[in-house]
Parts: sequence; structure tokens; C-alpha cells
Amino acid sequence: MSKVALSNASKWKEGIIVLISGTAVFLGGMTATGQPRFYRNVLMPIGQKLFDAETAHQWTIKLAKWRALPYIKPLDSSVLKSRVWNLDFDNPVGLAAGFDKQGEAVDGLLKLGFGFVEVGSVTPEPQPGNAKPRVFRLPEDGAVINRYGFNSDGHTVVLERLTSRGTDTRSPGVVGVNLGKNASSADAVGDYVSGVRAFGDIADYLVVNVSSPNTPGLRAMQRREALLALVAAATDARDRLARSPRPPLLVKVAPDLTREEKVDVAAVVSRPGSGVDGIVVSNTTISRPAGLKSEHAAETGGLSGAPLKSLATETIRDFYALTSGAVPIIGVGGVASGRDAYEKIKAGASLVQLYTAFVYHGPPIARTVNEELEKLLVADGYKSVSEAVGADHKSV
Ligand SMILES: Cc1cc2nc3c(=O)[nH]c(=O)nc-3n(C[C@H](O)[C@H](O)[C@H](O)COP(=O)(O)O)c2cc1C
Repeated sequence: MSKVALSNASKWKEGIIVLISGTAVFLGGMTATGQPRFYRNVLMPIGQKLFDAETAHQWTIKLAKWRALPYIKPLDSSVLKSRVWNLDFDNPVGLAAGFDKQGEAVDGLLKLGFGFVEVGSVTPEPQPGNAKPRVFRLPEDGAVINRYGFNSDGHTVVLERLTSRGTDTRSPGVVGVNLGKNASSADAVGDYVSGVRAFGDIADYLVVNVSSPNTPGLRAMQRREALLALVAAATDARDRLARSPRPPLLVKVAPDLTREEKVDVAAVVSRPGSGVDGIVVSNTTISRPAGLKSEHAAETGGLSGAPLKSLATETIRDFYALTSGAVPIIGVGGVASGRDAYEKIKAGASLVQLYTAFVYHGPPIARTVNEELEKLLVADGYKSVSEAVGADHKSV
């Protein structure tokens, strides 16, 4: 080969190396700095093309566990800090139950800027859940349908993971545990009581989940008599814990309750001495709001994300009114922006959670929601998030 041809070939090679390294540095930089738009428009859609929903979920958990997700600079804002149930929250945006079902990645997830993470649902005995595929993305609708059916490693394994969180590597933030029941168990109350006993000493708060649509008969526990019996047994188990102070106990409800059922649930949780400290409103919906565009819209399971947003907010509004604002609410369903969070807070939520928005917006989502929320609160003259809780009810 002539000298000229050789020098041209090496220039090409150099060019390609520069291009590849440049792209790698660009992508790496964007990933490492957690640029929200890069995640939403580039990285998450690529991930969704490459992996089905459950595989993508499992990889995200692994990356969070290995602390391999991007560094998200914490937002230190006095406006966002609050104290609920004597627990200090750095910000009101939590990661909802179902994301870290097995308690594998709590610290890596808190590090993304969530004020709190809810582990679970955890069942007493390990169980595999429903057959795959059991989770579907509906990208055109900003939604997910899942019918996981409480795939759980069981109390013993999840408890061991949570107790072995290293004190030196522990991220600041509140950690709740959401309790479920085994599909084959005939003693639902016993399953929840055993969850309270198992996690009562280490959870910052406990949630009795009687609203997942994928375990037959579970949602019937929201009926007045069944809920009364369940709440009596669960709070009794909580009150017998040696630990002091004892953890708050919350009930997680569905967005599909009739008016009468909401009245019943509100009566049970807010009656004097009920022992229930809060309500998580809401779980996924079995309804299918008109206008869903995705090919997966008819899949069986619980629908979450944007199409659930207003249904969940209105359910929060109802529960806040029915309990006269006396029972703190965690508002969840379709939160993907600061405005969404603010709407739920004004409707009556003391704290909010999200899950589906993480699927579409990726790791920067907690930071983005918090930044927007802080601006909205300040613009309306609030000095703290707690001042805005239930604001809609006061202005009526
Ligand atoms: C894939 C998936 C799995 C879920 N698993 C649970 C669960 O195990 N326990 C529970 O209480 N809620 C579970 N949820 C419901 C969420 O905690 C939340 O209530 C619901 O998704 C609404 O919030 P979102 O619209 O921000 O996703 C799950 C949700 C999704 C999308």
C-alpha cells in the first residue's frame, strides 16, 4: 500500500475512534449527570425496545442494588421537608410498593432522591406469583398493566435483607414495608398479623395491602366487617411489639371503591381508637378508562400511571373529606410531575408516591418532581409542604 493510502486509512481510523469515544463520553456524561430529558426521550425508550417490562424492571433493581444508577444530587429544601407520624421526610415523594418487592435495593433507590421507599408487598411464605408475561407497558397511554400476583421471596428472606443493610452504606430516608397474603392461605388475617410481627421491629411504617387486584378475594377485605376484624388484629399485633415508639400502621385501598365502600373504610380507620395511622390511596385500578390507545389495554390486571391519575386524586379527596383530614394520606396514582404531586397534596395527601412514572422517566424522576413541586409551593406562598395539605378543601 502506498504511503498516501496508509495515511488516509489511519486518519479514518482516528476519526472513527474519536467519534466512538465522543459518543461514549456524551452518553456516559448524560447518564451520569441524570439529565431528565435524555432519560425520558433516549435511554428509557431504547431500554424498552431491548427488554420486556419484567426484564427491564429486574435490571433496574440490579443496577440500583449495585449502586450503578446515576448520581442524583439531593435537593435540600426546607419547603419539602415534613414530619408525618413522627417520622422525618426529607421530601414528600416516595417510591411506591411493587418496585422493590423483595427489599433488594432500598439504599440505591433512596439515593435517587426519593424521600421514602415502600418495600413489598411481601407474603409470609415465598410464592412465585402468576405466569409470565404478567406486566405490560402501555407507552401511548403513559401506563402499565400488571398482574404479578404477589411474587414474593417471603418474610424470612426479605427481613434478612432489610436487617443486613449496612449502617455505613445506608442512605438517609424512610423505609416502609407493605404486607400481603399468600394466594393459598385461608387465613388472611393471620398472614397480615405475621407480617406485622415479622417487620414491626425494623419497618419505619407498615402497610396492610388489601387492594391488589391480582389475589382472588383480597379486595373483599376492604368491606366494613372484614376490615374491622383485620384492623383489630393487625393493630393489636403492632401494639404488642416491644419496640418503642411502635411503627405507624396504614391501610392501602383501591381506587375502584363505591361511595358506600369508601364511607365504610373511612369509618373503620377514623373511629376513635382504631389504631390505624394512615391510608395509602390508591392501588392500581381494574377499570379501563375510555380512550386507552395501547394494544395491551385489554390485558387482565391493575392499570397504573396517567390514566389512573384523576381517579386516584378524587379518591384522595373523598377520603380526606370522609376522615375530616384527621388521618394522613399517602397519595399515589399517575404522579409524573411536580404539578401532579401538588394536585394530590392539595386534595389531601400528606405524602405522595409513584411507580409508573419511573418506568417512563427513569432515575431522575424523584428529583424532577421535587424541583417542580418546590417551585409551585413557593409560588403559592407556602413555606412548607404540610401547609398545602388539603388546601382544596379549605378554599371551598
Ligand atoms: C408492576 C407493578 C407492581 C405493583 N406491585 C404492587 C405491590 O406488590 N403491592 C402494592 O401495594 N402495590 C403494588 N403496585 C401498585 C403501586 O404501588 C401503586 O399503587 C400504583 O401503581 C399507582 O401508582 P403509579 O400510577 O405511580 O404507578 C404495583 C404497581 C405496578 C405498576
